[in-house]
Amino acid sequence: KMEPTISITVVGASGDLAKKKIFPALFALYYENCLPEHFTIFGYARSKMTDEELRNIISRTLTCRIDQRENCGDKMDQFLQRCFYQSGQYGSEEDFLELHNKLIEKEVGRLPNRLFYLSIPPNIFVDVVRCASRRASSTSGWTRVIVEKPFGRDSESSGELTRYLKQYLSEDQIFRIDHYLGKELVENLSVLRFSNLVFAPLWSRDCIRNVQFIFSEDFGTEGRGGYFDNYGIIRDIMQNHLLQILALFAMETPVTLDAEDIRNEKVKVLRSMRTLVLDDVVVGQYKGHTKGAKSYPAYIDDPTVPQGSLTPTFAAAALFIDNARWDGVPFLMKAGKALHTKRAEIRVQFRHVPGNLYKRNFGTDLDKATNELVLRVQPDEAIYLKINNKVPGLGMRLDRSDLNLLYKARYSKEIPDAYERLLLDAMEGERRLFIRSDELDAAWKLFTPVLKELEEKKIAPELYPYGSRGPVGAHYLAAKHNVRWGDLGEDS
Ligand code: BG6
Repeated sequence: KMEPTISITVVGASGDLAKKKIFPALFALYYENCLPEHFTIFGYARSKMTDEELRNIISRTLTCRIDQRENCGDKMDQFLQRCFYQSGQYGSEEDFLELHNKLIEKEVGRLPNRLFYLSIPPNIFVDVVRCASRRASSTSGWTRVIVEKPFGRDSESSGELTRYLKQYLSEDQIFRIDHYLGKELVENLSVLRFSNLVFAPLWSRDCIRNVQFIFSEDFGTEGRGGYFDNYGIIRDIMQNHLLQILALFAMETPVTLDAEDIRNEKVKVLRSMRTLVLDDVVVGQYKGHTKGAKSYPAYIDDPTVPQGSLTPTFAAAALFIDNARWDGVPFLMKAGKALHTKRAEIRVQFRHVPGNLYKRNFGTDLDKATNELVLRVQPDEAIYLKINNKVPGLGMRLDRSDLNLLYKARYSKEIPDAYERLLLDAMEGERRLFIRSDELDAAWKLFTPVLKELEEKKIAPELYPYGSRGPVGAHYLAAKHNVRWGDLGEDS
């Protein structure tokens, strides 16, 4: 029986994602001995380059994590010796055939499995898939393709892309990445829910008042305006990253932990959601301003952004799940660039304690006295529960305290990057954390009408200063649903 080998081709090897995430993740996996004994990595892009030149580029991006310092330099050298380069056009079957021949040389005597990572702009997706599948598929092992969003820009274009891809690949060869699913705390969400007795009875409209999914970045679209302007924050963050987390948060218990069982539940909950309407959306865009000696650019100052662009760099939305568990519970999302802080978190606000004996100790603002569970996805991963506590002493004063699981205080090991887990899963054929096409359809269905309406009606985004807390409209939207954003009282 032949020993297997794996050939990983990073298409778009000179791009940002490849340099920042994919090669470093592959190296980290190599360091941890998670790659198979025998493997080959190919970078594929248009520019002419030697293997040595590619290695130089990659080596500048590799780092040794704190817990991976031992022999790190040697390991890097060994890793780089396994990296090669093939230049070629993205739409040329001939060039992919050349790649194929080079792969064969490396794979000789082994059972060849091939993984293609498409780290390329969406307009060349289909070309690359056609060329790679026709000319560079493995002849006796498996061939898998990892694709990155954007998967279209609405229901129709996404459906069209899926149909194209399926001309060349079967569904089980396509690995649609949403890197938020590879984040430690997002993975932990299911563990928290399904293996702790204390949370299960609370996880419904009976006890939960609202749920908030918050994403903020403290930098703008710097340099990515060309891509971003065609998509905007709703497509860039909400329709995928935040909605995926929502689905994991709200789904029913899957039959097993198998990929199909989990994804079945996610699709069910997405299909139970109400289509988002314009009244439940607020959009914003950052504007420049000067603070002391430093001045911050507006979104439209980006030279790659067309003048007068109405593309939102901030959005807030209220979503609802019309099923027995979640009827009437607002699920709020907020996502923005160029805000005052960088953070991603899930906040669960619980209901008031009926007939609270300590009511008078809270003054008039009973909302402040409800429990809140926070999963901070990043930075500084943590899970904490806000509880009411008696301030020690002879009096009866209450305050809000945190039961706090701060990861860096509890676990000494550094948390792997999301791309490490996802690459490993793709190699192992584990599909749990990848998006199935019916999931993708359901996700687009929720957002497509409002996205179209925003564009057709040319809805002007509310401007907010770079580095601020975002447009005030987000507060009105929350207030309309009797919600107060939970992140505002937090230190940052
Ligand atoms: C990407 C978006 O999917 O996620 C970017 O396209 C965003 O706009 C990024 O910056 C955020 O990812 P992370 O892992 O840095 O939070």
